Amino acid sequence: MTTPRKRWPMVALILLIGLGILQFFHPETEAAPVTGEIQAPPAVKEILVRACYDCHSNQGQLKWFDKMAPASWLVARHIRDGRAMLNFSTWDSLAPAAQSAALYTSINQVLFGVMPRADYLLLHRDARLSATDIATLRDWVNTFKAHPKKDTGQVPATIAEHAASVADAPNGIAYLKGWDQWQVVSTTDRFDNGTLRVIYGNDIAVKAIQQKKIHPWPDGAVFAKAAWWAVRDSLGRVRPGDFFQVEFMIKDQQKYARTEGWGWARWRGLQPKPYGKNALFTTECTTCHAPLKNNDFLFTQPLALNAH
Ligand code: HEC
Ligand code: HEC
Repeated sequence: MTTPRKRWPMVALILLIGLGILQFFHPETEAAPVTGEIQAPPAVKEILVRACYDCHSNQGQLKWFDKMAPASWLVARHIRDGRAMLNFSTWDSLAPAAQSAALYTSINQVLFGVMPRADYLLLHRDARLSATDIATLRDWVNTFKAHPKKDTGQVPATIAEHAASVADAPNGIAYLKGWDQWQVVSTTDRFDNGTLRVIYGNDIAVKAIQQKKIHPWPDGAVFAKAAWWAVRDSLGRVRPGDFFQVEFMIKDQQKYARTEGWGWARWRGLQPKPYGKNALFTTECTTCHAPLKNNDFLFTQPLALNAH
């Protein structure tokens, strides 16, 4: 009879052989060229290289344990997905507005603590960001000047009631007229791209706020976020100029089960044009809203201000 004590060396040996065999299944992370690396002050660059480059550049410095199965499988997936989303080695291929939007998203992901990814930080302690690192990143992103102000004096009558023939979004969601008459729930400012945002809620959303039933939001609740170019006068007063875009989150737990229980859609311009090449555009929305999962994916926290 073998005692459990005697079986241990055998188990360890089998595990070791198993691990050895795993090493033959090696995912290849494609080597890709550096075509136009991000330009940033040295202190900022150092942080990006240390904490983000392994997954968001073609210049990652993987450690030996990153290259060992089974960790290498996970790492290879992170690199593939991470590069597809954001690549600091091909930064030049983005238009300036897209670059500043990507940096704005980046600092948000860092502030919400979702980037760098937690599973990666377990083994890569040097990639952890200190409060000083985060402040360095934020201060740098803050230096970007907004777009030129726009105010052509055009009345955006077409965007709401009079939008007669607006095409559906690529995911099949139809434009919602009348959002401009809904209750205003919140307003925000985007320092980096110079837009003022007004967030409107439909009747069901407003009722839910009053009854404090927002975790989760009830089916039928809809939020519209309209963005206007910010104009500032000589006295520093800031007001909305030309209309930029409107986007919606439409709650229906069943219908939109695959996109976190919300239907997402966006239209741009005075003559509203649907945003997105195909239905996959919603991934953009859900990724950026993902850190707010515990708030049913809403950034806005209306309760404190609006409930009676
Ligand atoms: C271990 C790999 C890894 C590291 C390190 C990492 N990321 Fe990510 N990142 C990803 C992956 C994978 C995604 C795709 C979405 C997901 O799975 O969360 C992503 C998504 C993002 C997005 C979303 C892009 C979009 O369009 O919505 C941003 C922004 C981002 N990362 C910024 C950063 C920044 C800034 C750092 C460094 C401070 C960083 N990431 C470090 C793997 C990583
Ligand atoms: C870069 C990150 C980012 C992306 C991408 C994004 N959002 Fe948002 N969204 C925000 C932020 C931040 C807010 C909070 C209001 C503000 O500051 O503009 C917000 C707010 C909203 C709101 C108001 C309700 C709330 O959450 O506060 C709606 C509606 C909305 N987004 C729809 C969309 C749709 C539709 C898409 C995709 C087409 C999208 N968003 C993509 C960051 C993002």
